[in-house]
Amino acid sequence: MKMDVREALLERLKEAGGRWVSGESLSADLAVSRTAVWKQIGRLREEGYEIESSSRKGYLLRGVPDRLLPREIRSGLDSKVFGRREIVCFPETDSTNSRAKELAARGAPEGTLVLAGKQTGGRGRRGRSWFSPEGAGLYVSLVLRPKVAPVEAPKITLMTAVAVCDVLAPRLPSPPRVKWPNDILAGDRKIAGILTEISTDPDAVDYVVVGIGVNVNIPARRFPKEIRERATSLLIETGRSHSMTAILRSLLEAFERAYDLFRDGRFPRLLGRWRDYAGVMGRYGRIDQVGRGLTGKIENVDEDGSLLIRDDRGHLHRIVSGDVTYL
Ligand code: BTN
Repeated sequence: MKMDVREALLERLKEAGGRWVSGESLSADLAVSRTAVWKQIGRLREEGYEIESSSRKGYLLRGVPDRLLPREIRSGLDSKVFGRREIVCFPETDSTNSRAKELAARGAPEGTLVLAGKQTGGRGRRGRSWFSPEGAGLYVSLVLRPKVAPVEAPKITLMTAVAVCDVLAPRLPSPPRVKWPNDILAGDRKIAGILTEISTDPDAVDYVVVGIGVNVNIPARRFPKEIRERATSLLIETGRSHSMTAILRSLLEAFERAYDLFRDGRFPRLLGRWRDYAGVMGRYGRIDQVGRGLTGKIENVDEDGSLLIRDDRGHLHRIVSGDVTYL
């Protein structure tokens, strides 16, 4: 009941669009005492809402917090599943992917969203770590339950890269690029990363956890020295800070659009868009894999997301995992 009053109160203050709302009209509209209104205003302030009060004029909403609050994420969100199901927010956790995997293993449905304000053990691909400072990056994991064979699952990573690029493209001065398999770059520096983890039976996928990390408001000096030359953020690229909530909302919407295409058997269309963002066909690259290296011309990315590279002797290699460096 209390929560409903708070929600309704906030709704009224938002509707007022920057104008004062009297305590009297609030208490009448919400059918609670003026003391109750005052109490809930206090709660909203604790959550980070900037609300002015005046004994004569009432209350005025000055600012909405850019903390990841489920209510703010959902407000104006144009999606049906992602962001609409359970949202689990941790002020701090080691890795949102680890939390999401635990939830998925206990039966969490598709669309479950796990967020963290900061990660103390953010994980990257190939055993690397992901720099996850407080309040300056998005750390998002989504639970999926696609009804597909395990071999289809890598397509989800490519699909996610397209969604992340769609979100960043309108916000960056020049389009983002995707570096196989799923590094998202602005210029030559990494701005976002994707870590997909799959739990599967022999013939069907049980669940997939897609983890997305986006460097939003991280200033250059905050990156550890070892990655400072290779990492960037939206703040660095655009010279201003961005609303984390707004980016998360677009991410959930873009993800849902891409996932719908994937489920409707329209992966080739996504792959085409992935190739546009990659723009590396015909370039020379070196692949570093455990135990060996390979240099050649990048010819294509095939339907299951493998990289096709032709070495100098004319042999075509199909690379399933590794890191590529453009030469
Ligand atoms: C990479 O480029 O190596 C992938 C980085 C993925 C980072 C995200 S942040 C949210 C989620 N939780 C993690 O521990 N990792 C992913």
